[in-house]
Amino acid sequence: MRMQTLITESLLQPVTAGLFGSDLVSIRDLSPVAVESLFQLASLVKARPESFRTALAGKHVAMFFEKPSLRTRITFEAGIAALGGSVSFIDHRHERLDARETLGDIAHNLERWVNAIVLRTFAHETVEGMAEHARVPVINALSELEHPCQALADYFTLQEKFGNLKGIRLAYVGDGNNVMHSLLLTAALLGSTIRIATPEDYGPDCRVLADAQEIAKQTGGRIELMTDPGRAASDVDAVYTDAWTSMGHEEEAEERGKIFPPYQVNDQLMSRARPHAVFMHCLPASRNEEVTDSVIDSLRSIVFEQAENRMHVQKAILMMLVGAKSRQQLRSAHV
Ligand code: CP
Ligand code: NVA
Repeated sequence: MRMQTLITESLLQPVTAGLFGSDLVSIRDLSPVAVESLFQLASLVKARPESFRTALAGKHVAMFFEKPSLRTRITFEAGIAALGGSVSFIDHRHERLDARETLGDIAHNLERWVNAIVLRTFAHETVEGMAEHARVPVINALSELEHPCQALADYFTLQEKFGNLKGIRLAYVGDGNNVMHSLLLTAALLGSTIRIATPEDYGPDCRVLADAQEIAKQTGGRIELMTDPGRAASDVDAVYTDAWTSMGHEEEAEERGKIFPPYQVNDQLMSRARPHAVFMHCLPASRNEEVTDSVIDSLRSIVFEQAENRMHVQKAILMMLVGAKSRQQLRSAHV
């Protein structure tokens, strides 16, 4: 019992490290210590969900989605319900969030009714604008530029698999999109190594890359950019890909379909990776485009572990940003 108390108390310190009331718009909003604390809390919530049943009691979260979703919507909704909170889901697929009134006016209404705002938008500026105006935490549930909840769940999954994240090498092969940007920044923050192989004109956004390089200088992370997928996959611990055409770029699908086939993750590409290497994908997958059935359905594939961990990690995010009771909850949680 004494040991349990000590473990729980040692988790408390970093959990309270300044995230309460803040936003998660970008991975850039986090520090290495914050990510470490988040992963500790996510492990605890995953192992002992029953200890957190009232962590968000009395809290209400508003979710506005301009794009479709399976995983993000359900993991937030189920996660919030499991923590004793409640949710309003607003389907904004048919008009942009600020079509009827300004973002500032929406924010100043919402902050009087809800404890957090979760947004899935086309423009990243919409999430930034809401965060600037609202006095309650704003969480990016995917924008054009980033998908921070996804990348955090992905690196949490890698930590479960490999332990020390500094020592692993992940290859991201395909489109330089929102998921890749958040993976790049997370790898940098964790002092890990990421290799990115994209076609020439589909690499990372230069500001995101510059920020990731700056962070990596401080953490000892390594970022390697290339266009050759075979070189990227050589001797890595994980190979990650995402759809060649992201939501909002549908009119480019035909053009992309001609450019991206060399970047398909198939058995031949996976054979370049280390024997224990895993295959990762944020899902949804366009099967037999960016990844073959033989890879995504293989024993190396951890795509459903990633999907499961979305919920545990998002529960931890919500508790850190919103759950005023989380310290108390942690104190009484049995590790
Ligand atoms: N990975 C992910 O965000 O999935 P959804 O688009 O289904 O939410
Ligand atoms: N890059 C993809 C991720 C979907 C979860 C998209 O934005 O459509």
